[in-house]
Amino acid sequence: MRKAAVFVTRDIGEKALARLRPVVDLEVWPGDYPPPRSVILEKVPGLFGLLTLLTDPIDAEVINSAGPELKVISQMAVGVDNIDVKAATARGIPVGNTPGVLTETTADMAWALLMAVARRVVEADQQVRQGIWKPWGPDVLTGPDIHGSTIGIIGFGRIGQAVARRARGFNMKILYFDPQRQIDLEESLGVEYAPLNDLLSQSDFISLHTFLNASTRHMISKQQFECMKPSAILINTSRGGVVDPAALTWALQEKKIAGAGLDVYDPEPIQKDNPILGMSNVVITPHIASASIETRRKMALMAVENVLAAVLGKKLPYCVNPEVY
Ligand code: DGY
Repeated sequence: MRKAAVFVTRDIGEKALARLRPVVDLEVWPGDYPPPRSVILEKVPGLFGLLTLLTDPIDAEVINSAGPELKVISQMAVGVDNIDVKAATARGIPVGNTPGVLTETTADMAWALLMAVARRVVEADQQVRQGIWKPWGPDVLTGPDIHGSTIGIIGFGRIGQAVARRARGFNMKILYFDPQRQIDLEESLGVEYAPLNDLLSQSDFISLHTFLNASTRHMISKQQFECMKPSAILINTSRGGVVDPAALTWALQEKKIAGAGLDVYDPEPIQKDNPILGMSNVVITPHIASASIETRRKMALMAVENVLAAVLGKKLPYCVNPEVY
């Protein structure tokens, strides 16, 4: 019998791929860059499985190019905003993701960015490397205190809660906003629910942890920046599209906020001539919040587990559209 054809859009590591090789007819896109859309469109007909990364736009056209044999789209990420899940669901195709394993790692990175921006770590490092080691002085490279300040967490799912736990260790006042108020967690985590505008106006640090969808796209825009304290620092480890990039540039240029720590941007990669790259109060990293060795290993294994389940005719263990079953 012919083995099921599975296309993996990047090398996700031999440990994970080795689990697929004996059971499927495997093709792995080589190199460090995603396959062009034309390649995905060309490969999809006849595939049983597609194992994707968040850099692959799997839109309705891609999904509808698949034959009836496509039985799984398995994404090595928790966010699946690059996949038209509605189109997949309409065709009865389960979409898998990798929830849970990257929670703490992503929260660590949000914290790293928060500390780096507040305490001007990157700016200071660059000065030293450029031969500028100013003598100790009362105002040299000062920034706000983190301990004892107020953090506003937008999106209070797993990662938002993990950030709250870190904030407790810094003796911070913790506000959260989420469409779903979570009263049970308020006492156990020592957090307070706040309507969005109240959170924005009271927080010294604002950290974003929402999924990207139609209701969260550009949820931080000019109007929201207008609510923030001029001393506020925005941290985004969720999706670039949650923040209106033009409004962010405006807010930084007009000093509506004091700085930003960004692991994500819209679009990615950021254009080389983007003005925020010239701002010393912005720390920006290339979407690496989940990039610990162990977490990436676990994510790859979970993505493979989803494919293997489909091969065995079972439900995906981590499925974002279980209604297909
Ligand atoms: C995810 O899993 O959605 C993260 O953005 C990957 O780092």
